[in-house]
Amino acid sequence: MHTHTKTIAFINGKGGTGKSTTCVLVAAALDTVGRAVQVLDLDTTQRTATSWLDSSGLGHMVASGHFSTGEVRLIDTPPRLDSTLFQKAAAMASIIILVTSPSPADLVTTQQTILALDLIAESTGAHPTVRLLYNNVQQGTSLSQDLPIRAREIGAEPLVQFIRRRQAYQHSIIMGWKKLPAVAREEVLAVALEIATLPEKTLARRKP
Ligand SMILES: Nc1ncnc2c1ncn2[C@@H]1O[C@H](COP(=O)(O)OP(=O)(O)O)[C@@H](O)[C@H]1O
Ligand SMILES: [Mg+2]
Repeated sequence: MHTHTKTIAFINGKGGTGKSTTCVLVAAALDTVGRAVQVLDLDTTQRTATSWLDSSGLGHMVASGHFSTGEVRLIDTPPRLDSTLFQKAAAMASIIILVTSPSPADLVTTQQTILALDLIAESTGAHPTVRLLYNNVQQGTSLSQDLPIRAREIGAEPLVQFIRRRQAYQHSIIMGWKKLPAVAREEVLAVALEIATLPEKTLARRKP
């Protein structure tokens, strides 16, 4: 039984890393295993998460702005470190998922995002659990090597599970969760369960 509500924000200072995609996929996966999920779409310019949920029959998960009930709250965020909505999401979250590809350029932006999160944590006094989620992984490529090591090099703890690059995820915005191939649904579910069972930190985060 779950009585506690977790607030999980999908974050990166750069656009196109897969924040919205992974946020809605994780939402759909948790829904299939019976968890109550709400998605707060704070990317009010793009509204990718809202339109995906609406068009795939999951519009009931879209939160209007404040949460009442619901065991898991997922927040999609704008790709701007200086946006007040980004800062609001970071301050609300007990768990922050840094969504990034394994590309060195994206890891640099991710490191800048971590520094911005540290500043927010200093001013709010809240110290959320932060994990890095690799998205768009192409296995067998050189960039897919040593993913855990490269996460720690930028001061981030990686999730064990990751999400591969699949065209099916691009189609899913029209086709919905149920039309995804089983392997895709399984990898998203593995990520979703890892995220949903992360511990929430209450003490100050130790510097690496
Ligand atoms: N794992 C993936 N495999 C293939 N395409 C992906 C994957 N993740 C994201 N994409 C695609 O990349 C683009 C950007 O993703 P999106 O979730 O909108 O990024 P963000 O919200 O970070 O700006 C979209 O076209 C999306 O379909
Ligand atoms: Mg987005």
